[in-house]
Amino acid sequence: MRIVRTVADLRAALAPVRGSGSVGLVPTMGALHDGHLELARQARADNDAVVLSIFVNPTQFNDPSDLAAYPRDEGKDVDLAASVGVDYVFAPEVTEVYPPGFSATVTLHGPIVEALEGAHRGVGHFQGVTTVVAKLFGMVSPDRAYFGQKDAQQVRVVQAMVADLNIPTQIVVVSTVREPDGLAMSSRNRRLSPFDRARAAHVAEALRAAELAAAGGISDAWSLLHSARKVLTDNAIDVEYLELVDADTFRPIPVLVTGPAVLAVAVVIGGTRLIDNVVLRQGSAS
Ligand code: PAJ
Repeated sequence: MRIVRTVADLRAALAPVRGSGSVGLVPTMGALHDGHLELARQARADNDAVVLSIFVNPTQFNDPSDLAAYPRDEGKDVDLAASVGVDYVFAPEVTEVYPPGFSATVTLHGPIVEALEGAHRGVGHFQGVTTVVAKLFGMVSPDRAYFGQKDAQQVRVVQAMVADLNIPTQIVVVSTVREPDGLAMSSRNRRLSPFDRARAAHVAEALRAAELAAAGGISDAWSLLHSARKVLTDNAIDVEYLELVDADTFRPIPVLVTGPAVLAVAVVIGGTRLIDNVVLRQGSAS
């Protein structure tokens, strides 16, 4: 496995594969865990060459202290990427991605970017994500790119971007990888104290409560939200948002769930912000 720092080196490395074989891209911000590795495993199974990018993208952080505190451990990440068969770790410097004079942004509009994370982190968050993902797609020209359902809204935003801009990359969505107690794996989990780590399991438990209610035939939004919220309030968890939205439009579901819906939650536990979600389908528990 090779570590590549520049776009020119990356293009040169991938040139022999183009035309004859496929390239898979796994975009990450590093601090890899088994959720990221599952994306890489899937990419390995589907493609001739696999690129995993590690870039802590400054433009998608609304809070400078959050950016500064973001965990970084490139040495460990490189070993983990190699262990699942990644061919190239692309780890550019900030100036390689955003050279002096850089002025482009990719901006989507509407509820997909304005709801949930857009409302709470600011619209600049998804603008940072779409700009860097569009750039990574331009740098790598992947046939397929892998994203986690853990960030359901990000998946939807990236799907909308490739559709709107006719980007010829297939977006592959990988299910959320969870710890044995249900907590969705996240680079931020390592910031939790042992006490808070135990409490964090109630976030997945809350989503599961709504999932079971939906599977049992409940379809009114208020009841589904209530079943999740009760678990969170019973455990004194500080909820930033808990919303039930249409899985396609990300508009809130006002009364009854009639099609696929995303129940999305953001909480703050011991100063650490965590997000999770579940797709609710009537009458089917997974
Ligand atoms: P990051 O948070 O590092 O996540 C990289 C990818 O891993 C994302 O697609 C995310 O959804 C996926 N992922 C994280 N935890 C997961 C889990 N428990 N199960 C399955 N997939 C999981 O998301 C970003 O980075 C950035 O916004 C990025 C897309 C790289 C743009 O900067």
